[in-house]
Amino acid sequence: MNFHLLTLFPEAIKPYFDSSLLGKAQEKGIVKIFLHQLRDYATDKHCSVDDRPYGGGSGMILKPDVVVCAVRDLRQKHKIDRVILLSPRGALFTQAGARELSDIQSVLLICGRYEGVDQRAIDLVVDEELSIGDYVLSGGELAAAVVVDAVARLIPGVLGNEKATLDESHTVGAHGCAPLLEYPHYTRPEEFEGMKVPEVLLSGNHAEIEKWRREESLKITCKNRPDLLKKK
Ligand code: ADE
Repeated sequence: MNFHLLTLFPEAIKPYFDSSLLGKAQEKGIVKIFLHQLRDYATDKHCSVDDRPYGGGSGMILKPDVVVCAVRDLRQKHKIDRVILLSPRGALFTQAGARELSDIQSVLLICGRYEGVDQRAIDLVVDEELSIGDYVLSGGELAAAVVVDAVARLIPGVLGNEKATLDESHTVGAHGCAPLLEYPHYTRPEEFEGMKVPEVLLSGNHAEIEKWRREESLKITCKNRPDLLKKK
């Protein structure tokens, strides 16, 4: 899968993409990540990419000509299936959304900055707006990195163990039941600072282990995210 990112700060996110799982996925050629500098598409002599909002108000707005020119140029040079703007007012990015995106060949993620993007650019070249949560970041770079990471690890070959993604938090169960948060995990030693690994996990009884894990998933979901249990 190809991820194209349009950003004013490529250097801020490149190290993350080049390390760990995403670095390996790029080395294997399963994932390609291209960082494009938005400022390269500025047209005036000061290379400005933003301007004051009509109607007043605080903050600066990314200029429509710069954003539209960049997206059109990238669409001409690369095969791009979907254009997504990262923005706090976007639809919430979820695990289901990550799965849906992982089936796409090539996506362009626009990292918003300042107060926002001129609405005409959004209307002209953006397919959807995504938010990674109900808080405001200083730009879309971290949000785009979150999307790339969550999507890439679902692509076959990236994790090396696809089954690992089937029973993790936020993933709908095999029977279509509501996504629950993940049960607690333990590794050696069997006893740590007086705390023992739950007996059932040492029993070798897989049916009992499954039952215990499901109960623990329900408990932790009830405690931390009761809203998930109300979802259909
Ligand atoms: N840019 C600023 N805040 C954001 C958020 N919560 N999600 C996506 N992009 C953003």
